[in-house]
Order: sequence, then C-alpha cells, then structure tokens
Amino acid sequence: MVLLDQTRLPGEVVEVRLAAWPQVVGAIRRMVVRGAPAIGVAGAMGVALAARQDAGSSSDDQRAEIRRAAAALRDARPTAANLAWAVDRLAGEAAAHPGPPEALAGALAGAARAVHADEVRRCEVMGAHAGALITRGARVMTHCNAGALATGGYGTALGAVRSAFAADPSLRVVVPETRPLLQGARLTAWELEREGIPYTLIADVTAAALMADGRVSHVVVGADRIARNGDVVNKIGTYAHALAAREHGVPFIVVAPTTTLDLTMPSAAEVPIEERAADEVRDLALFGRPATPEGAPVTNPAFDRTPARLVAAIVTEAGVHRPPYDRSLAAAVAAQEDPAT
Ligand code: MRU
Repeated sequence: MVLLDQTRLPGEVVEVRLAAWPQVVGAIRRMVVRGAPAIGVAGAMGVALAARQDAGSSSDDQRAEIRRAAAALRDARPTAANLAWAVDRLAGEAAAHPGPPEALAGALAGAARAVHADEVRRCEVMGAHAGALITRGARVMTHCNAGALATGGYGTALGAVRSAFAADPSLRVVVPETRPLLQGARLTAWELEREGIPYTLIADVTAAALMADGRVSHVVVGADRIARNGDVVNKIGTYAHALAAREHGVPFIVVAPTTTLDLTMPSAAEVPIEERAADEVRDLALFGRPATPEGAPVTNPAFDRTPARLVAAIVTEAGVHRPPYDRSLAAAVAAQEDPAT
C-alpha cells in the first residue's frame, strides 16, 4: 500500500510504500497516516496485507496471521472509532470467507478498497449536507485537520468548507495551529492552499478572542468518536473552542461519518483518550533555543471530550442531526448497516 507521509508535510510531498502489516501499525502510531477515517482505511489495508503476505502458507497459518494483524492494528491508536470499525469489518469478512488462501487474500484486498471508496463517498455526501448549514460570507473556524488527508479523500469538516466555498467564494477559514503536532498549521493550511481557499492561521490561544470580536461565524470540526448521546471526542482543544462558541453564540457543528459513531458508548466519559509522548509537547525551539526546561513534566492527552449540550448539529452521511441526538444517531447507524431501512 502507498501512503502520503503526513509527517513530511508541508515541506515535502513524499509517498511511502508498505509491504507488511507491522509497517502499517508503525505508520499509524507515528502518524505517517492520521485522522480517524484515514487510519480506518489504513487498518483495513493492513489486514488485507496480512492475508496477502501469508497467501502461500496453509489456510490455518494465514488465518492466524490475519487475527494477529487485526489485534495489533486495532490497538495502534485507541481513540478513533473508525480504526476498530474497519479492522473488525475486514476480520469479520475473513472469518466468514470459506475460500483457500489466494481467494481470501483477493477478497480482503477488495474489501479494503471498498472501505476506502465508501469513506470518500460518505465525505462527499456529508460535505453537501454540512455545507448547506454555512451561511453566505461565513468565517469558518475548524480545528486540527479534518480534510482529505484525514479521510483518504475530500474531508469531513474541510469537506463542508469545500462544498460551502464552491457555492460562496467569499467564505474564509480560520485555522488554529493545533498544538502540539500542528495538524492545523502543517496540514489544513497546506490543503487549503492547494484548494485555493483563503485562510488565516492563528495560534490556538487566539480562538476565543476572535469569536468575541465577531470574527468567527461557525466552528466546524471533525470527530474521532461520537457517543450515543452525541458527546464528541476530537483533537485536544476542541472542547475549549466549543465552550467559547457557546459563550459567543457561534454554532458549533461536527461533521463525521457513521463509522465514527460508537453506540456502545453511552457518553464520552467511557471513551479512552490516547496519551502521547511528552516530547511532542517539549520538542519546541524558539529564538534558536529549546523553549522548555529539559525534562519538564508533561501531560499530553491527544483528544478531549465535548459534551453534546455544546454541539448545535452533528452531520453524517445520513443528514443533519439535532439534539437530542440518541435516536437520530442510532437510526443513521441502522440505515448504514441495512441500507433498506
Ligand atoms: O491525532 P490525529 O491527527 O489523528 O487527530 C485527528 C483529529 O482529531 C481529527 O479532527 C479527526 O480525526 C477527524 S478527521 C476527519
């Protein structure tokens, strides 16, 4: 499989080729690929690679390797619902497939490609639904990177921006840098430049002041996991934006596919929050010098929890959901599991 190495952007556009599933686990952990739907797609491809690697061995050996790969890929990052969803989907297809190793490898390759195509299609549909919520002359603030890079194509929150910008070229985007790994500064800014969508980069700490000054009309973000009650788990800093948006009467809109919904979680309280390495926070230089004392104690949660009461709308491929969220999110998941409903 081929990935665009997101750790090298925006300076270098470099592709990496991965031939074995343990490399996929490493790429997800190191955030060569990141963003909830994109790591789901990568996880699915990883399971398919495991099947292909062992297609020349006995059926039992191949199936044992698929199970090992699925367990490791599922655990590579704990918060995004999409990773577990996609890996479980491929593992389920493997378990149900009666065929010999070559046939199973082919079937899983096809299933992984379908996971990718479906995520991009969901983004395009969501983008149209959410784009319609963005009024003319909007100043849309997003957070982190919820664009094509995070989804395998088009984007969730940035998909909404793309769709709204196509209808109204006066739209402008506010991009918080998103400390500590700067997905806003490195990735969202890069994507918006390529799309020709005007944006302003800000330090994360500037967001509330811009809202107070009336310079943000909508906050539109993606999600890593959404609980049954509509609580949203997303990149650290999202909760602070939601609090500020509520204070200043700015609609806070979440755009995510149904593969990000986790109905097994009654609320976000139970969602595991990934704690990442201290060096991600300490690894900072200013005026040509380290900006923190060596070994400064750090806490570095990668995500936070935004309560449903702060969320004006959740947009999935099924449409626009308004509070209370539980029934309508459950119906969206049911419709995606059984398109006839
Ligand atoms: O740690 P990351 O960069 O994988 O976090 C990504 C985010 O928090 C995104 O906002 C989220 O995955 C939605 S992406 C469509």
